[in-house]
Amino acid sequence: MFSSCLSIEVADRMIENALGTFELPLGVAVNFLINEKDYLIPMATEESSVVAAASNAAKIARGKGGFKTECSKPLMIGQIQILNVEDIAGAAQKIMEHKKEILRLANAQDKILVDLGGGAKDLEVRILNSPIGKMIVVHLIVDVRDAMGANAVNTMCEALAPSLEEVTDGKVRLKILSNLADKRIFKAKAIFDKETMGGEHVVDAFLESYILATIDPYRAATHNKGIMNGIDALIIATGNDFRAIEAGAHAYASRNGSYSSLTTYYKDENGNLVGEIELPLAVGIVGGAANMHPKAKLCRKILGIKTAQELAEVVASLGLAQNFAAVFALSTVGIQKGHMSLHAKNIAVMAGAEGKEIDKLAEQMVKENKIKLDRAKEILEKMRKTR
Ligand code: MEV
Repeated sequence: MFSSCLSIEVADRMIENALGTFELPLGVAVNFLINEKDYLIPMATEESSVVAAASNAAKIARGKGGFKTECSKPLMIGQIQILNVEDIAGAAQKIMEHKKEILRLANAQDKILVDLGGGAKDLEVRILNSPIGKMIVVHLIVDVRDAMGANAVNTMCEALAPSLEEVTDGKVRLKILSNLADKRIFKAKAIFDKETMGGEHVVDAFLESYILATIDPYRAATHNKGIMNGIDALIIATGNDFRAIEAGAHAYASRNGSYSSLTTYYKDENGNLVGEIELPLAVGIVGGAANMHPKAKLCRKILGIKTAQELAEVVASLGLAQNFAAVFALSTVGIQKGHMSLHAKNIAVMAGAEGKEIDKLAEQMVKENKIKLDRAKEILEKMRKTR
C-alpha cells in the first residue's frame, strides 16, 4: 500500500490557499493486453466495482488478443477570435497569405517543442455568424508531442494576437486552446468471445442494450459516464487534466449533431462481440501535475509507458473495457449485485461498525438483501448485545 506522498509544500505550489491534500483510493486493474504488451493500470477512484469490472473485461478481451489501438498525431487546436473586421472574406484571405510568418512567430515561442519535432504546423480560418455579427476564428494547429499542450498552445495564441490584429485590421478577443481536440483522436478495439460471455444470446442481449445509447441522449450520457469511470480514474492517477478529457469526450460524442455513444459494438462473422471506442485524448507525460505529483510519477512507472501516445492508447482501451463491463452487467445480472458487498461494508462503517464487525455486519445485510443504514444499526446493536 502506498501512503500519501503529495507534500503540503508541493500542493501549495500547485494551487492557491492550499489547506492540504485530498485522497482517493488508488487501485490497480489487471489482465490488460494492449498492442501485444501487458499493462497494470493504476486507477484513482472512489467508486466500488470499477477496478474489478475493468479487470474482468480485460480478461475476456485477452482471450481474443486483447486491445488494438490506432491514433492520430498529437495535434491540438488553439483558437483566436477576431472581431470588428470590415472585410471578413478579405481578412480571412490575408491571414492565409501570411501563414508562413504566423507559424514562424508561433514557433518562436517554444524552441524546445520545435526541437523535439513539434510546434505550430498549420492554420485554419473559420468565419462564424453570431448575434454580435460575423467574426473570424483562427485555428492554430500545434503538434504538442508528449505534453497535454495547453500551456504551449495558449502561449502561442497570445503571442499571435498583435500580428493578427495588424493583418486583419480587427480586434482579437479570445485566445485559448480548444478542448475539442478532434485532431488528437484515439481508437481502441477488442473482441469479446461469445462463449466466455455466456453464448450468442448474451451477445444479442448486449447489443440490444447498447443500441439505446446510439439513439437516446438520456442513455448515451450514462453509457459514456461508464466509459469515463475508467478513463478519469487513470487520468487522475497520472496527474492529467480530467476536466479537459471530459469536455473533449462529450463534445466529440455530439459531433454528428446529437449526443451519442463513444463506443460502437457489432458481431463478427463468428458471433463474437466486437467493441470499438473513438475519442479525443489530450494527455501528457511532461509538464503540469504529471511531473509535480509524486504519485502520478509512480503511476506512470507502474504503467510502464514511455510516451503520451502510449498513455492515451491505454486510456482508450480502459474506457472500452469499462464500458463493456457495464453494458455486459446491465444486459445480464444488473450492476447492483457486483456493487453490493463493498457497498454493504461502507454502510456497516457508517452504522458505526469497527474491525471484525464490519465484514460480519456486511455479510448479514447481503444475506438479507437489505443494505440500509437503519437495518445496519439494528443488526449492529443486536450483535453487540449478544457478544
Ligand atoms: C455507473 O457508475 C456507471 C453505469 O451506469 C454505466 C452504464 O450504465 O453503462 C453502470
